[in-house]
Amino acid sequence: MNGKILSEYEARHPKSKSLAGRAEGLFPSGVTHDARAFFPFRIYVDHAQGARKWDVDGNMYIDYIGGHGSLLLGHRHPEVMEAASSAAGKGTHFGSSHLYELEWAEQVIDLVPCAQKVRFTSSGTEATMMALRLARAYTGRDRVIKFADHFHGWHDIVVGRQSNQEATPTSVGVPDSFYDSLTVLPPNDTTLLADALSSRDVAAVIIEPTGAHWGMHPVATNFLRQIRDLTEKTGTLFIMDEVITGFRASKGGAQERYSITPDLSTHAKILAGGFPGGCVAGPNSILNILELRESDQHWNKEERVAHQGTYNGNPVSAAAGTETLRLISNGNHTDQAEKSASLLVNSLEVLFQAKSVDASAWNVSSMWHLNMGAGGVRPDDAEADPPYEPAGIRPDLMHPLRLSLYNHGVDLMADGGMVSSAHGQEEIGLTVDAFSSAIDELRDEGLLE
Ligand SMILES: Cc1ncc(COP(=O)(O)O)c(C=O)c1O
Repeated sequence: MNGKILSEYEARHPKSKSLAGRAEGLFPSGVTHDARAFFPFRIYVDHAQGARKWDVDGNMYIDYIGGHGSLLLGHRHPEVMEAASSAAGKGTHFGSSHLYELEWAEQVIDLVPCAQKVRFTSSGTEATMMALRLARAYTGRDRVIKFADHFHGWHDIVVGRQSNQEATPTSVGVPDSFYDSLTVLPPNDTTLLADALSSRDVAAVIIEPTGAHWGMHPVATNFLRQIRDLTEKTGTLFIMDEVITGFRASKGGAQERYSITPDLSTHAKILAGGFPGGCVAGPNSILNILELRESDQHWNKEERVAHQGTYNGNPVSAAAGTETLRLISNGNHTDQAEKSASLLVNSLEVLFQAKSVDASAWNVSSMWHLNMGAGGVRPDDAEADPPYEPAGIRPDLMHPLRLSLYNHGVDLMADGGMVSSAHGQEEIGLTVDAFSSAIDELRDEGLLE
């Protein structure tokens, strides 16, 4: 592609281009996270506030990445910033226990239905790794079931060649034998799940509760109920990976929104208010496998799950997380973010119709997705009765669309994004205007019918 959209992108971002060139020699493809790679080069952000961020060339964007989903309250919420600065002012790492981690855990236990106890980790990847290890230790079984395309971080068991049916590896570098104890199933197929669980050798079923990639391929709520029912009947643990949906799908996450309580849930992102941090939450009976017993060396050496981690329960993350969860606890922020996401999606639907664009948009709480291209399914209630594959996203359209949206001041996350409680009517209006201009430009360049 080398039309006006691209030349304008180059013209608007000279400093970003220069920094991207410098990064090429420092990082593989110049980035520190696969999702940040963008061609011909990515924008470099200087600062952010609320729902907006500004790049090094002075361009402003309505931000739908929201710290990879960690900023339900928007960038630099004053009370969260104050809590973090105050904690940092006392020291960034004591290597000891501290009050902040108690308050943080108390907030999680108050909000998350399945939580009687928690253990903090440094990331969501570490949280899902721990949840699966706990499940294996608790059940004495090895096998794990995950769903095709569901993302649970980048540790060995959840990446790589996940089944014989999946021809394309998402990561090499994991021994094939590692996957002997992994079964990957299509979501929303109760018969296959019941069959896979019937041998009673499965430690855990893990799922993104609103569907792969935070709802790009929605999961039926009824399927979640069936997982709960079937895992209970077969002595299998049900793990909801709430790294994205936690404190977003509702103040208590997807488990509260759908009234389905898993055995364990994994959290990160919003949990730590935009700072690094994760946790596993669950009942005493499972979490206590981590406990050290004062005079039981057999238990300590042979039966417990060991857990270390230099930054677990870091005081700055704990303070920011506690304040974030305190602000979320009355439900107003999740409601406001969802209201803005619905307004955005409805306004985009009206725009697509008015401009006769074969596209649709939908949201589950404050997570929204675009479906560009012919034949796209239009789920009007993704939660109640979702088709598995609302496909139709055309990569050939998404890239120029994102380029053009950058030129008009909007930063998407993949095919849609995360709305925060700081996104108001003004930000939604600017976003819809940007889409309108982008559609015209795509047509001018002959990229869109
Ligand atoms: C559902 C889900 N689980 C786990 C992870 C991994 O979390 P982290 O990036 O903190 O390691 C992510 C990250 O995006 C996620 O979306």
